[in-house]
Amino acid sequence: MSKTIIISNRLPVQLQIKEGSIEATPSVGGLATGMKSVHSDGESLWIGWSGLTLEEIPDSLDADIDQALARHGCSRVDLSKNEVDGFYYGFSNRTIWPLFHYFMEYSEFELSNWTVYEAVNRKFADAIAAAAADDDVIWVHDYQLMLVPQMVREQRPGLSIGFFLHIPFPSYEIFRTMPWRREVLRGLLGSDLIGFHTYDYERHFLSSVRRLLGLEVSFNEIHLEDRVVKVDSFPMGIDYKKFNEAAARHRDMKPGEISDLQNRLDTHKASTPDAKFFLSIDRLDYTKGIARRIKAFEYFLEKYPEYKEKVRLIILAVPSRSKVPQYQRLKREIDELVGRINGELSTVSWTPIWYFYRSLPFDNLIDLYTSCDIAWLTPIRDGMNLVAKEYIATRTDQTGVLILSEMAGSANEMNEALLINPNNFEQIAESLHQALNMPEEEQKRRNAAMQKRLERYNVEKWANDFMNSLLTQRQQDYSMV
Ligand code: UDP
Ligand code: G6P
Repeated sequence: MSKTIIISNRLPVQLQIKEGSIEATPSVGGLATGMKSVHSDGESLWIGWSGLTLEEIPDSLDADIDQALARHGCSRVDLSKNEVDGFYYGFSNRTIWPLFHYFMEYSEFELSNWTVYEAVNRKFADAIAAAAADDDVIWVHDYQLMLVPQMVREQRPGLSIGFFLHIPFPSYEIFRTMPWRREVLRGLLGSDLIGFHTYDYERHFLSSVRRLLGLEVSFNEIHLEDRVVKVDSFPMGIDYKKFNEAAARHRDMKPGEISDLQNRLDTHKASTPDAKFFLSIDRLDYTKGIARRIKAFEYFLEKYPEYKEKVRLIILAVPSRSKVPQYQRLKREIDELVGRINGELSTVSWTPIWYFYRSLPFDNLIDLYTSCDIAWLTPIRDGMNLVAKEYIATRTDQTGVLILSEMAGSANEMNEALLINPNNFEQIAESLHQALNMPEEEQKRRNAAMQKRLERYNVEKWANDFMNSLLTQRQQDYSMV
């Protein structure tokens, strides 16, 4: 029977070696959390990096590492420290990530990092070529592996290869600034199907292909000499049932089952019953607009001082890519902002911002989603933003307000949220005010519409749609030869 081989840099679990034994922790980020739900039916193999460098892996633990990954249906591509530096911290996260999120001034164009990126993409391609049977379907994920499709195609021309980009594809004017722009496009065109979250990203990609490679593009098909590559948008969904059912279970918990975090949230709610919680959850990333959100919170309290002691901002910032200087600077900026605002505004009974810098287990995420009255997500640029969808899925009584940036891919599917421009403090303050005063009936009406959509367009449907489109594309290609 044919299987699907999923390939991404980040596996669904991250390995660490602690006191000589291996620990696996769930990975954070939309790719890992979303694909995990699709992968768990056990008919796929997931190939990626374990999170450990070659230098960290003692020979004695080699077999244990394979076993630990096999338990999750995974196998590994090992990377040396130099490779991680050049490929992951370097080209992926200091060139592509900022450029594709329109942070041009953060993008570094270092030939040495590009060279390592190419070499590591080849490693991944070789691992696929070695593992794939002729009728397997290959699904490559995200910006770290954009050269892989063509590298696999060269070795195994008969394989079906799909690629999905989890981040925005920028406009041609941005993309063209990258020295290796044509190589990246040619790498992607090794696929039979290329998927994006939104139609805009798809259009930007097609425009770059047309203008930089001079290829014929008709509608959403790119005509190569011997094949046709299809390009389409597939907005990624969430495992709606998992979030909705976890929230329902949560509601019915007995006292002994309630987490410390939930107890703390409940205590505060009980002491100030009319107080409202704002929730902000993101990886600590400059694209997410966390620092600006904190400043907007301060602005809101200046404009509407009557809400002092009545609202609290809960920030969960998950550590991410902390060896990259921009992330380190952002961490310092957020620490300082939170410290200053709490220092200036706190009273004996009120701390305006609760700040957690860590990743939380699933159950605690549910605690936060279900306890907070307003989810406030203001990325400056975001491929999708699954947190917005997860928040809505957990609102089992359909109350709660989502304030979401227009710059998130998910805003396209969440029109009933309060959509804001993350650079417009005035509009943000107004939408917080509107959210705080929104009648329950209106909250329910808006959330019911979004829930219906999220339940229908869940992650399983997303994966099925992509796979069906890939298989149809392949059949059409065969019928052409
Ligand atoms: N998440 C997590 N642990 C945390 C906080 C968040 O696993 O402590 C998950 C969250 O549930 C969501 C993902 O991380 O599924 C973030 O995905 P999103 O698309 O919002 O942003 P990304 O991190 O991919 O840019
Ligand atoms: C985003 C990217 C993913 C990445 C995730 C976490 O969701 O699209 O490819 O895995 O962030 O980032 P990290 O660098 O820790 O893998």
